[in-house]
Amino acid sequence: MKEKLCLLFLSFLMTLTISAWSGDVTIETPNTMLVLHAREGGDLRMAYYGARVANLQQLRDAGADLNSSALPAFGTVDMVQLPALQVLHADGDLNLELQTTNYSSHAEGNAQVHVFTMQDKLQPIIVRMFYKAYRQVDIIETWTEIENGEKKPVTLKRYDSGHLVLRQGDVWITHMHGNWAAETEPTSEPLTGGVKIIRNTDGTRNAHLDAPEVMVSLDGRPQELTGRTIGAALCWSGNFELRFNTISHKEHHFYAGIDPQSSEYILDPKQKFETPHLALTFSNEGLSGASRNFHRWARTEGMLHRGMKVGDILLNSWEGLYFDIDEARMIQMMDDISKFGGELFVMDDGWFGDKYPRKNDTSSLGDWVVDKNKLPNGLRALTDAARERGIKFGIWIEPENVNTTSELFEQHPEWALQVKGRQLKLGRGGTQLVLDMTNPQVQDFVFKIVDDLLTQNPEIAYIKWDANASIQNFGSLYLPKNRQQNLYVDYHLGLLKTLQRIRAKYPDIVIQDCASGGGRANYGLLPYFDEFWVSDNTDALQRVYIQWGTSLFFPANAMACHINHCPYWNTGGRVIPIKFRCDVAMSGRLGIELQPKDMTDEERQQTSTCMADYKQLRPVVQTGNLYRLLSPYDRKGVASLMYVDDVQQKGVWFVYKVDNYYDQPIPRICLAGLNPDATYTLVEKNVRVGQRPCSLSGKRFTGRFLMEVGIEVPLREEYASRVFSIES
Ligand code: GLA
Repeated sequence: MKEKLCLLFLSFLMTLTISAWSGDVTIETPNTMLVLHAREGGDLRMAYYGARVANLQQLRDAGADLNSSALPAFGTVDMVQLPALQVLHADGDLNLELQTTNYSSHAEGNAQVHVFTMQDKLQPIIVRMFYKAYRQVDIIETWTEIENGEKKPVTLKRYDSGHLVLRQGDVWITHMHGNWAAETEPTSEPLTGGVKIIRNTDGTRNAHLDAPEVMVSLDGRPQELTGRTIGAALCWSGNFELRFNTISHKEHHFYAGIDPQSSEYILDPKQKFETPHLALTFSNEGLSGASRNFHRWARTEGMLHRGMKVGDILLNSWEGLYFDIDEARMIQMMDDISKFGGELFVMDDGWFGDKYPRKNDTSSLGDWVVDKNKLPNGLRALTDAARERGIKFGIWIEPENVNTTSELFEQHPEWALQVKGRQLKLGRGGTQLVLDMTNPQVQDFVFKIVDDLLTQNPEIAYIKWDANASIQNFGSLYLPKNRQQNLYVDYHLGLLKTLQRIRAKYPDIVIQDCASGGGRANYGLLPYFDEFWVSDNTDALQRVYIQWGTSLFFPANAMACHINHCPYWNTGGRVIPIKFRCDVAMSGRLGIELQPKDMTDEERQQTSTCMADYKQLRPVVQTGNLYRLLSPYDRKGVASLMYVDDVQQKGVWFVYKVDNYYDQPIPRICLAGLNPDATYTLVEKNVRVGQRPCSLSGKRFTGRFLMEVGIEVPLREEYASRVFSIES
């Protein structure tokens, strides 16, 4: 025993910096630190998460050593604390008494991975708890692996990815609540006694309604630029549950994982289950600081397939034509986007189906062959036309779904999720069903959709991958009867496997993640996608709000933001000037979503100006550091945000008037993230057609002045907006 302890201690010494107390493990990123107490034979304890501290003794002296179970297991913890893990053993025992048996640490890419192995005192269940700390970004990922060493299957009744303990106080959470066409409304509330649960059980899309991310503000009401803030994102595309439990002992406990309600997962003997990763950050620069950490991690550590690359300016055919596409219209749209200065044209829904041509949303999903009536010369004519116009070509698919009116459903009705003997519940168009991604044959079929498209049309440069149905028929004809409860989880594991296969063969194709708008904006899927469609609502005023919430966790080069047409049906026929529509779309990955043929001359001119200017600003917007300055939710009449490059030489600043009334005070806006000692010139961009740049354009200010005194921006008329390039 003594020897073992010595060995454990030695391996600590070899792999990490041991602090003053033996048995403490510090998990560090450049500015943050998580401290655990690990002792062989003991429960793994979490002591601290926050800013780096040089000497751990200070934590103890300050009473900041929380010393609470790192992974509270049912049967180990005091029952007032909710468990993060509960296993029903083969013999009916529901308890786990986890003892740490091993600790190791190894380098993996730009990160250090710390692994704690724990075992139940009685049953052969092994739990490994992982913490992956990045060396260049302030993100720590945590997850567990549960191994069934028993002779019979066991049931994972709860299997959270991670747990944090926080000192009780004026702690607020900000989570994203929403709906279709009204995604990601940041909802802030203080943590009060009891349990708060944020959950999504859609089955396939987990970012409509409630999203799997949360910010925790430790210093009272959330602020954008100040205050200690923890950000947490569950990297998973399926059902999830985030829980906060505020109990005695002056603690808040935070748990995040797969929602176990309908997914009590059955684990066979020798099988291991790895939970999704929970990504955590800490910043003392408020919500914006935590957002910047997530954005940097997403871009540099492969959480976003696009990485630091910028996205092309595109025209998507959906809102301009809906299903009414044909070759002539596609070519006309390509003409228009290339004349505006755009770089890519995407043909949306409506191009496929032979026996059942896709005329509306009631048929054809599953039949991924060209509708010869609409496109008599096939996709080849379109990729040729794109090349001739110097632009790229992209295409829409919805590979995980099928309509009952389709050749696929006629041939393979058993591939749709369904319950034998129960009537099918049908989704969009009254005929839509979800394919059974747990079935390897379906996985092959989905892979083949992409593979056929790309081998037959090697010039396709972009795919919009949609998913417009939730799981309503909870049953798989592939999974055995006694494994049906694994369906929600195995669906997503099957999807991930398929995406991995696609990416292995097609690493460079750009793929947009779309699910009835932003239904799948999550870090579970983003490693395989380059960007996501933020919302089916393209009303520019509402987009100011939706994009604000989305930016809490996701970087600008992942956010597809398109200029729409007006009057706009989704918001009751609202008409918004083209200048405002352009300025809002320019704050993410710019595109357009309308029929250019119907645009006025002013709209055309403004759009061309916007695209030309955006090309200059794009590197800073898409890969810079975001500072949200004035929230539209604060009802100050104006919203404002800016991006700054890493060397603080260039910035791009957006200002939008979101209310309009007589004698309205326009707030002075203090900028952020600049070098106080540098001098910057403000240059107005995307100037309104027929107008001159405003009086601020060309003026020089020190960074200190811009950040401490601030600027009043001329915003007179309704929907006034300005974009400035900040140049040193
Ligand atoms: C979903 C998407 C839209 C569009 C349609 C096509 O609603 O979010 O952008 O692609 O499907 O049917």
